Amino acid sequence: MENLKIGVVGTGAIGREHIRRLSEKVSGCRIAAVSDINETAAGEVAEKYGAEFYKDSNELIRSKDVDAIVITAGDPAHASLCIAGLHAGKFIFCEKPLATEVPECEKIVQEEQKCGKRLLQVGFMRRYDPGYVEMKRLIRNGSIGTPLMVHACHRNMTHAPSMNSDLSIRNSGIHEIDIMRWLLEEDYDSCDVIIPKHNSHADPDMQDPQIMRLRTKSGVEIDVEIAQNSGYGYDIQCEVVGELGTIKLPDPAKVDKKIKGVHFVDVNPDWESRFSEAYEIELAKWVDEVKTGKVTGPSAWDGYMACLAADTLSRSRVDGERKKIIIPEKPALYI
Ligand code: NAI
Repeated sequence: MENLKIGVVGTGAIGREHIRRLSEKVSGCRIAAVSDINETAAGEVAEKYGAEFYKDSNELIRSKDVDAIVITAGDPAHASLCIAGLHAGKFIFCEKPLATEVPECEKIVQEEQKCGKRLLQVGFMRRYDPGYVEMKRLIRNGSIGTPLMVHACHRNMTHAPSMNSDLSIRNSGIHEIDIMRWLLEEDYDSCDVIIPKHNSHADPDMQDPQIMRLRTKSGVEIDVEIAQNSGYGYDIQCEVVGELGTIKLPDPAKVDKKIKGVHFVDVNPDWESRFSEAYEIELAKWVDEVKTGKVTGPSAWDGYMACLAADTLSRSRVDGERKKIIIPEKPALYI
């Protein structure tokens, strides 16, 4: 089959990484077009990969020379670009979060239903990380019995100037919200946020760290530390405690070093190095599935559910109250 012609909107940090992966690591596709409001950056990428540069993202989305869209623009641009992609009837891979606001997610889900088939996949790449995949297999086969609790943490070395207390949940924490729901195969019932002592390396008006607490419908209690100023690296941990045993997420294998009297293993510096394998598996599978006409990765509904939980957590952070997460009925398209 001919190479899938991919149009990428957003040539920032992860946009360029995905373009590199799709060009060098994933077979069966090519970067046909790129667009970004930063025209210089997009122009450079277009030249490097022999792609067409589009000044107008919507024109790229509608182009007959583009089979499928990758959205790696900043969060606020996701909703309108997804809707344009759905109107064009194209397969879309949209980086997380699906959108920044719950009503935008609702609109995307409504528009996709009008298409009559799933066209959209959200970039929750942790679902492709071999460690999480193995944890899910062990939960499913009953190795640890019924899950009771999850203890997790998501630590970034340091944060971009644009980061704030709210984005810490809606942009970083959303990975945790999605992966726990996927691991446990359950929706959430309620949530709240605990605010520990302030890290003096964080902006004074930013709550950092935070502890997100989520309770599933069956009563599994999840606590996730979200920290933007670990000071030592990018660290993702997850332990699921069951009735019969406990399982912990491994880091990708690294050489254990003993040098000059010190025994150590390097810590991942950032998300790119920690999850590079997951991104590659995620995109390769997406390309293969788009070519068969049926995508099975994280859906617009999953993106909506994550945004709904993040929104409820953010409101709980502000008023300190534990809140119910009200989940609407799941449309047939997503069952
Ligand atoms: P970035 O700031 O480096 O790049 C974003 C790019 O989007 C910029 O070049 C900007 O000019 C462009 N842009 C903004 N609005 C646009 C619009 N309306 N039309 C076209 N281009 C537009 O940000 P980064 O880190 O590359 O993040 C991009 C997206 O990917 C974000 O939504 C972020 O949440 C997500 N992301 C996901 C990760 C994951 O682990 N799955 C990791 C990092 C980012």
